[in-house]
Amino acid sequence: MKIITVKDAQAGGKVAFEILSEKLAAGAKVLGLATGSTPIPLYQEIVNSNLDFSDVTSINLDEYVGLPVENEQSYDYFMREHLFNAKPFKQSFLPNGLAEDLQEETKRYDAVIDSHPVDLQILGIGRNGHIGFNEPGTSFDITTHVVDLAQDTIQANSRFFDTIDDVPKQAISMGIASIMNSKTILLLAFGEEKSDAIAQMVNGPITEELPASVLQQHADVIVIADEAAASKL
Ligand code: GLP
Repeated sequence: MKIITVKDAQAGGKVAFEILSEKLAAGAKVLGLATGSTPIPLYQEIVNSNLDFSDVTSINLDEYVGLPVENEQSYDYFMREHLFNAKPFKQSFLPNGLAEDLQEETKRYDAVIDSHPVDLQILGIGRNGHIGFNEPGTSFDITTHVVDLAQDTIQANSRFFDTIDDVPKQAISMGIASIMNSKTILLLAFGEEKSDAIAQMVNGPITEELPASVLQQHADVIVIADEAAASKL
């Protein structure tokens, strides 16, 4: 794991943008994308750049179950708002959280991932060490699946909703096995509330109780953390 410490999220976005640009210049054609507040500085750098994505495919990590794409809290809406409206990709995939048959949808999404191997996967991290929506206790062998969100995650994400009862209780998430298949992984973490998860991810035991610890087993992981998130390393 290569760890790059930066002053703050804005600086982290710039470093992440440089790495992403290098990968694209080297021929990367499929990006794995993440939502949450963490990748926003990177997406802003991309939007303000002259990079062209019309030949690049994106595959997002996850989507809430039950939110229509017009809902501002859906990840579909988030991606259009923060990236795709300004930088259209050749094609962009997200799980369909409104699918009538969610199990069928997980299979469809696995087929999408299988036919578009990810060159560079962008990741954030939850306070409890989750990646995508792979909560503590999730098997490292799992592919796309329907998730019951952990109470801590519902609590953390409630800041984006009017009330905590409005936060969906389920999501569809790419699995850990799929994330581990990405050629390169770029994990971003900003803020003190991520410091425990980062310390355990880097120096703790590899355990399903801390999903991000699996990244110790991946050959090409770059972590960009601000000083606060790196403070317990
Ligand atoms: C959500 C997303 C994750 C994200 C995490 C952290 O639960 N599913 O992909 O990494 O929250 O969010 P934030 O970046 O807002 O701290």
